Amino acid sequence: MRLGYGLIGAGFMGKTHTLGFLNVNRVFRLPVEVELRKVAEYDAAVAERAAKSLGYPEFTGDWRTLIGDPAIHIVSIATPGTTHCEMSLAAIAAGKHVYCEKPLATAAEAEKMTAAGEAAGVKTMVGFNYIKNPMMRVAREIIDSGEIGEVRTFRGMHIEDNLMDADIPWHWRLDKAGAGGAMADIGSHILATARYLLGPIVEVLGDVTTVIPSRPVAGGACQTRAVEVEDIARAFVRFERGCSGVIEANWIAAGRKMQHDFEVSGSKGGIFFSQERFSELDLYLNDDRPGRRGFHKIFAGPEHPPYGDFCIAPGHQLGFNDLKTIEVRDFLRAIAGDTSDQTSFREGWEVQKTVEAIYRSSREHRWVKLQ
Ligand SMILES: NC(=O)c1ccc[n+]([C@@H]2O[C@H](COP(=O)([O-])OP(=O)(O)OC[C@H]3O[C@@H](n4cnc5c(N)ncnc54)[C@H](O)[C@@H]3O)[C@@H](O)[C@H]2O)c1
Repeated sequence: MRLGYGLIGAGFMGKTHTLGFLNVNRVFRLPVEVELRKVAEYDAAVAERAAKSLGYPEFTGDWRTLIGDPAIHIVSIATPGTTHCEMSLAAIAAGKHVYCEKPLATAAEAEKMTAAGEAAGVKTMVGFNYIKNPMMRVAREIIDSGEIGEVRTFRGMHIEDNLMDADIPWHWRLDKAGAGGAMADIGSHILATARYLLGPIVEVLGDVTTVIPSRPVAGGACQTRAVEVEDIARAFVRFERGCSGVIEANWIAAGRKMQHDFEVSGSKGGIFFSQERFSELDLYLNDDRPGRRGFHKIFAGPEHPPYGDFCIAPGHQLGFNDLKTIEVRDFLRAIAGDTSDQTSFREGWEVQKTVEAIYRSSREHRWVKLQ
């Protein structure tokens, strides 16, 4: 099967999507082959520059033209969150398979997007790329096999410092009309990871704070605009399987670049992971003899699929864009009928429901159950 691909939004994520679709048929053997066809930006001149640099034969300054193109079967949406719902619904209505970035949308919008995708019978995907890491699969295998015993607790975080400087101007990530602040934007990743490893979260107790209350309207401007979304969000969480945990999302944590980190403790041992060293997983086994107990490091290698499709030797490490290539593989497999690793819009909706339950809990100062 040969399918045409179109990208809407050629910024940071648009480039990673492009690399993913360019590489996927070279790294993996798949029943679907993809051809880059068109890129859309908010303006034709920007789209033309993107087409030249990323290698698309066609471009448009109007995303609706891309969605209307019958030669395009798969659409990536890598634009600011407030556009995701309208673009996804239009793409689904045109019969396209849709791969949209996180946070998917507000929960109300995500519900509509999920229903539309499922009713149309097209395949959807959300960009929770960190769960595509081969070491995440190892972590889940260790948990599921009982190697660390009964899981007692989860500590997870997604922490960065990209907004720690109060002089950084107001921009679309801070738009209250979107899915939310730190917990929606970056916290959605660690919520997806928590759910991938341990299953559904059923109850939350949240605490949400805006530390920097206003920002310049543009670089160097004196005029400011109020920030109405949170910089830090924390939550105690309870999982359906019975264990509890704590989750933090924070984009003003000095010196922290990509702490998508977690620790899972069980009755026989534990695992620790940090995204800043994402080709490693630390494992602690309480059965080790006294005097020798301690976390030991497992380095990613060909025995941890699909690492071996990228590199035949262990310890050489994958990169961020490789995670996107794995995500694209899982999307193409879903389009071909194997949905076992599809992270669909339904998952994006579940994650956003958790985000909004945390916000509600913080507002109302009480535990909130998820429906
Ligand atoms: N999965 C991840 O790890 C990850 C990382 C960063 C960002 N994201 C998500 O990806 C999405 C995009 O973020 P980004 O960092 O790439 O932003 P970005 O600002 O770098 O890129 C967004 C692009 O969309 C374009 N755009 C805006 N409105 C448009 C419109 N109406 N039509 C066509 N193009 C339009 C902009 O011109 C820009 O080039 C967001 O949802 C963000 O949360 C995901």
